[in-house]
Amino acid sequence: MPVTGNHKSFGSDNHSGAHPEVVRAIIDANVGDATAYGNDDWTAAATAELRDLFGAAGAFFVFNGSAANVLGVGLMLRPYEAVISAESSHLHVDECGATERVLGNKILTVATPDGKLTPELIASRLGGRGDEHRAQPRVVEIAQVTEAGTCYSLSELATLRDFCSAEGLRIYMDGARLANAAAHLDCELAELARYADVLSFGGTKNGAVAGEAVLVMREELVADVPYLRKQQMQLGSKMRFISAQFSALLADKLWRTSARHANSMALRLADGIRDAAGVTIRYPVQSNAVFPALSPDRIAELRREWTFHIWDETAGVVRLMTAFDTSPTEVDALIAGIRASG
Ligand SMILES: Cc1ncc(COP(=O)(O)O)c(C=O)c1O
Repeated sequence: MPVTGNHKSFGSDNHSGAHPEVVRAIIDANVGDATAYGNDDWTAAATAELRDLFGAAGAFFVFNGSAANVLGVGLMLRPYEAVISAESSHLHVDECGATERVLGNKILTVATPDGKLTPELIASRLGGRGDEHRAQPRVVEIAQVTEAGTCYSLSELATLRDFCSAEGLRIYMDGARLANAAAHLDCELAELARYADVLSFGGTKNGAVAGEAVLVMREELVADVPYLRKQQMQLGSKMRFISAQFSALLADKLWRTSARHANSMALRLADGIRDAAGVTIRYPVQSNAVFPALSPDRIAELRREWTFHIWDETAGVVRLMTAFDTSPTEVDALIAGIRASG
């Protein structure tokens, strides 16, 4: 069901509008002429801020998260190499095969209990190395936050990093919700970035109108990015409007305030329904998503009033997602609705 007007959606953090500070920054950037394709003051400022914040060698803007993933992963792959990812990853499931079509590389998937890869799970896909008949694993793609709303702890990231370094594997971190992960772990973005070779930092789900940043942590990978980004049709001509949004998100750590709020609304929701009869929450709530299992009748009843995704039809698991602008009143109304249903 399309969502319009004032209807409250728990379908996705993509359903929310943009943060007023971001919209203001776009309006403020709408002054006179500026040279195109990122040769403007807003882009110079925002990329410098991002490089500093992440400790990155390079920062580049693209239009959306799928493009960030294709650009980021592709930077580290030769044509015959493969990327290992969780079977549930956005890269594998929800990007219409962009990696396979645009890059032409193979994705080697692994089933995970909670969206997270471990050294053992990665090792299960390392067979055939050195065999010319087999695509050669080279990049491990992890999402921080995962599709299950879970976060890798800093020590899990350190373990993955050590394993990947020993195995000659590079790490790409899909950070479409990196702000939510940093808010959950109460850490700096640089503390997450140091475990990746390349990562994305999502603006859209954090209150931007549109735009994601690709952070390149290895100096030797930076030079290729401008050419690949252009070939992949992600070089924005009026880039100042994307860049200005990021400066707004970084100012006074708005990204963290917004992510913390979204996460706290998800926790409030989970705490409000955890003990309700017939409700089981599938994954630990570590970001801005709650995945309760509900009976089919209950789901149908609730969907008359609220918008949300059915995550696993067979198990009756739905995804309820909060955003920077979700209010406690809206959450409490959904809690009451869930408790009264069924
Ligand atoms: C984890 C993750 N990565 C990447 C994306 C892709 O973003 P986009 O839809 O902007 O291409 C999404 C979008 O939902 C996502 O959840």
